[in-house]
Amino acid sequence: MVQSSSETDLTQRVLEKVAAAPDPRFRAIMTSLVRHLHDFVRETKLTQTEWMTAIQFLTATGQKCDDRRQEFILLSDTLGVSMLVDAISHRMPKGATESTVLGPFYVQGAPELPNGTDIAAGETGVPTYVSGRVTDSSGHPIAGATLDVWQTDDNGFYDVQQPQRGGMRMRGKFRTDAEGRYWFRTTKPVSYPLPTDGPVGQMLDRMGRHPYRPAHVHFIVSAPGYEAVTTHVFVAGDPYIDSDAVFGVKPSLVIDFHEQGPGQTPDGGRSDQPFCSVEFDFGLKQS
Ligand code: BEZ
Ligand code: FE
Repeated sequence: MVQSSSETDLTQRVLEKVAAAPDPRFRAIMTSLVRHLHDFVRETKLTQTEWMTAIQFLTATGQKCDDRRQEFILLSDTLGVSMLVDAISHRMPKGATESTVLGPFYVQGAPELPNGTDIAAGETGVPTYVSGRVTDSSGHPIAGATLDVWQTDDNGFYDVQQPQRGGMRMRGKFRTDAEGRYWFRTTKPVSYPLPTDGPVGQMLDRMGRHPYRPAHVHFIVSAPGYEAVTTHVFVAGDPYIDSDAVFGVKPSLVIDFHEQGPGQTPDGGRSDQPFCSVEFDFGLKQS
């Protein structure tokens, strides 16, 4: 018998098909997805033209992706989905550093560098000395922890956005010493816009939203026996600190990039120009 395809029967019929999926987690996710999708279509009374616009938007999002560009991550980030998944996945104990978005500009295989290295060698910008400790959530130092660090240059571009300038820039991996300490040099990060030359840029524009992220340095901090944390350190006072385009700011990650006049630097050298020094400790949760 041909079954009815009325507005409500249809949902039930699709759900009955999904119920045959053998993997219970997949079945649960698809059941919820179908329910919410169908409710969304009913609630908005979506027209065929609008549905076709949505399909063209998702197609364009996929077509914009390549080895260097991940427009779907950008879509997830700007709709707050990445931070929602993050919040559900990382309920941190006291003393553990909070996480935030990975973003699309992480590159595996950054060079391992000795503590003290300037990842911004040859770049313009305000010299910035970053240091701190990696501890467990009770404050005990973790020796041999790895800090994978990346940020934009002083013009707000990641190296992968400017392949014409050569290979990796503004990235490095550092390892904590016996007291759990790390230290390196960089330039003061700047706020920068997300790439807006794709469908996500058009979406932000139609929403009347700006595309800026407040200035930050990215970190993935890891050590054997602990959960790795993907996070940022944000610059206090940044004009976009309360309106991050990807909703990634958490108060515990905002710190003072203490700016001072020329003089003695934290590494014992001298700077002829103003510089910043920043201290940030990371706490890792036992796995
Ligand atoms: C980033 O901070 O690199 C980033 C995060 C989310 C979207 C775009 C960029
Ligand atoms: Fe970033």
